[in-house]
Amino acid sequence: MATTITVLFFALLLSAFASTEALDPCATIGGQKWVFPKDLRACFTSFAVNPVIKQNIVEVINKTLAFHTSVNYEISAPEPFTPFVHEDLLKDLSRISAQSYPSDYDLHIDFSRTLKRLNDGHCVWINSCYVSLFLNFLPIPLALLTDSNGIQSVHIAPAAFAVASAEFSDEIDVWQEALPPTIQLETASRYLLLSIDGQDPFVAVDANALITGSFQPLGTRQNSFFSSYQFGASGWTYIMGDFAQQSLPLNDSVTLVVQRVNESTTDTIELPYRARINPTAVSFNDSASYRANNCLPIVGTNGVDLNETASSAAPISETVLKFQQQPPISKTFPKERINVMLDTIPLSDIALPPSLVPTIPVIGGGFGSGQFYMLPDNITGIFALGSFGGDTIDAMMSGMLQGLVNLKSLGASQLIVDVSNNGGGFICAAEFLHRIIVGPKNTTVPQAGLDTKARDGPLARLIVQQIIENNLDPDQDLLYNPLNWRNATNVPFTADDDWLLPPVNLTINGHADAFSQRLGQECQPNGFTSTPPDNALFAAENVVIVSNGRCASSCSLFSITMAKEEGVKTVVLGGKNDVQQAYCGTVGGESTVFSEVDTEVKTARLKNNTLAPPDLMVNGVQGITWRLGFGIDDPTQPEEWQPHPASLNLLLTPDLVNNPVAIWTNITQQLLSAKN
Ligand SMILES: *[C@@H]1O[C@H](CO)[C@@H](O)[C@H](O)[C@H]1NC(C)=O
Ligand SMILES: *[C@@H]1O[C@H](CO)[C@@H](O)[C@H](O)[C@H]1NC(C)=O
Ligand SMILES: *[C@@H]1O[C@H](CO)[C@@H](O)[C@H](O)[C@H]1NC(C)=O
Ligand SMILES: *[C@@H]1O[C@H](CO)[C@@H](O)[C@H](O)[C@H]1NC(C)=O
Ligand SMILES: *[C@@H]1O[C@H](CO)[C@@H](O)[C@H](O)[C@H]1NC(C)=O
Ligand SMILES: *[C@@H]1O[C@H](CO)[C@@H](O)[C@H](O)[C@H]1NC(C)=O
Ligand SMILES: *[C@@H]1O[C@H](CO)[C@@H](O)[C@H](O)[C@H]1NC(C)=O
Ligand SMILES: *[C@@H]1O[C@H](CO)[C@@H](O)[C@H](O)[C@H]1NC(C)=O
Ligand SMILES: *[C@@H]1O[C@H](CO)[C@@H](O)[C@H](O)[C@H]1NC(C)=O
Ligand SMILES: *[C@@H]1O[C@H](CO)[C@@H](O)[C@H](O)[C@H]1NC(C)=O
Repeated sequence: MATTITVLFFALLLSAFASTEALDPCATIGGQKWVFPKDLRACFTSFAVNPVIKQNIVEVINKTLAFHTSVNYEISAPEPFTPFVHEDLLKDLSRISAQSYPSDYDLHIDFSRTLKRLNDGHCVWINSCYVSLFLNFLPIPLALLTDSNGIQSVHIAPAAFAVASAEFSDEIDVWQEALPPTIQLETASRYLLLSIDGQDPFVAVDANALITGSFQPLGTRQNSFFSSYQFGASGWTYIMGDFAQQSLPLNDSVTLVVQRVNESTTDTIELPYRARINPTAVSFNDSASYRANNCLPIVGTNGVDLNETASSAAPISETVLKFQQQPPISKTFPKERINVMLDTIPLSDIALPPSLVPTIPVIGGGFGSGQFYMLPDNITGIFALGSFGGDTIDAMMSGMLQGLVNLKSLGASQLIVDVSNNGGGFICAAEFLHRIIVGPKNTTVPQAGLDTKARDGPLARLIVQQIIENNLDPDQDLLYNPLNWRNATNVPFTADDDWLLPPVNLTINGHADAFSQRLGQECQPNGFTSTPPDNALFAAENVVIVSNGRCASSCSLFSITMAKEEGVKTVVLGGKNDVQQAYCGTVGGESTVFSEVDTEVKTARLKNNTLAPPDLMVNGVQGITWRLGFGIDDPTQPEEWQPHPASLNLLLTPDLVNNPVAIWTNITQQLLSAKN
């Protein structure tokens, strides 16, 4: 009897264990490379909201926003941006605070989309527990193509199969098997898309434009649905676009009506999304190890007191490095000032297919994410610049100078700068490039960028006072150290200049706000690590800047000063022909992240102040604009919400799309002097 009971007991125990294991939704995806998005969602949604952690995130975001210059502007941006930027963050954070959510994942989506509604790539909330832990893929990136009659339609990108079969060699069969035998992925490239999930493809394009964030202009957010290219640290990369790559498991499958090239019959196909684990995810095999390995704060999530940890040893979190839209350059606290976008999709390392990679001669001078070429006409130099980061600032500046001088000495009299998907980087590198292309003149010396202002809140003011009174920053690492800045006539502040006093009081969208005095430039002469030449390298009328519109931060500073001050022409690749295309967005002036703000607070010994954000309890990052640039056409208002219309919207054909050399050749013919 006893034995039977014991056996029964053990049997029950075993089955209890077995069913717990089967019920652990994260065990289903643990250790897997490819998973179904619904299984990933089952894991993500299995965690209830922890009220303490929710309150912690609200408080970190809320108190960090006191340092973000744009909070009140973004309640309602001026025209033509009003329809796209009208988000009252503090109000929405109160709403989130009071609201209940079925799961922590649903709460995350609300946080993320609330911040993304700013369409400001500097002010983004990313929780690495969920965002891009897996990337959710389809093997058919799309392109918006224009035919010889000017008719635009959505197609499977011409290079789709070349890209997908190389990148997803271990998964492409799964997708092929999901299709009827009459449809071969290999020949589906260029198929016309008549509908996505039963609706006009632009319904899906516009639905995505509402949640993708990052750029104020509608055209840019529409374009992020489609594939594009970038010259990055690993060479030429292919960007899948938001249709074929998602940072969260939003969709399980897509139903498409397609029409084959040169045929009138249509097919309806259904393709599953498949989610691939990111190499940066820490492996796990169940719920406990998933949370422990991926969701808790990591080294660098929070700031340090620089009086205890030297800046050369103060870490930046891998999470910040992963989502900053520049190749990582250093894992320690940066002294060089940067202006760089954050995005929920990390930089791509998917290769641009060999048939699209430029094979024209490479000219010496290339560095991290910069490469120089000469077109076959021998008069058009090309500078492909996928980032203003991704190398040391010294290597970037000397490379830029070397490459442009080389092009010129080889006979180049005109220049195309291709900044497709350039999310920013070093501010002084952007100003250096402006200065060396057009030479010394009143728009480049001493200020080759934009004057700026910082927010002047009570805690910021205390930080400055603490630094001054206690000499807390002998190495000049801190943002609030007066020695790092100059006033509007470019005179450096002295160690005891309280540069936040008196504040400039403004009322913005009905809210009282306060800013620092206008700041001048800080790059020249010492921030230029190569000596700029005495003369212009190229005449401004012979320079064209081209991108897919996804040019942000330091890339915006460069493009805007070149376009508005020097009259340089700008080209945007692709885009709907009835939507104004902008050559850049997310301007800012200088960006930073929560952990750096926390370092300021801790080093200034203000962590116990009630206005100080607490340490963050999750593996996340909140970005902000720390200095906001003043405009060129209207110097009294921020440049952020002034228009940046492209001179030319280059509509893409099957021959042009994602083919850099074909694009550069076409632009030469349309906008520069064409030989041959
Ligand atoms: C955010 O901070 C403000 C003070 O700046 C405070 O009044 C408000 O209650 C905070 N909101 C939340 C949701 O914590
Ligand atoms: C993904 O799903 C959302 C609804 O959850 C829908 O609005 C969107 O169009 C879908 N996207 C695609 C590409 O199917
Ligand atoms: C479609 O037709 C054009 C012109 O008739 C032809 O050049 C092209 O090769 C055809 N494409 C395919 C995939 O059949
Ligand atoms: C889970 O993974 C850890 C290593 O990360 C390993 O030690 C452990 O045995 C694994 N557990 C199971 C049940 O596979
Ligand atoms: C920290 O501050 C104290 C007092 O101001 C100073 O003596 C010490 O050298 C500082 N330590 C570091 C690492 O800077
Ligand atoms: C360009 O230069 C190359 C190498 O010097 C030469 O072979 C080629 O003929 C030149 N092309 C033109 C159009 O001048
Ligand atoms: C800069 O120089 C140009 C002529 O080269 C002149 O028209 C312009 O007024 C100057 N701007 C300033 C601010 O001095
Ligand atoms: C900048 O500082 C210098 C020296 O104190 C002063 O003469 C000048 O007026 C200041 N400029 C502005 C715009 O405040
Ligand atoms: C700015 O506003 C503060 C209160 O918000 C006030 O004390 C101060 O006098 C104002 N400064 C100026 C220059 O108007
Ligand atoms: C913060 O802590 C310091 C001691 O580290 C103390 O002197 C100060 O009064 C505290 N400030 C607040 C606002 O609690």
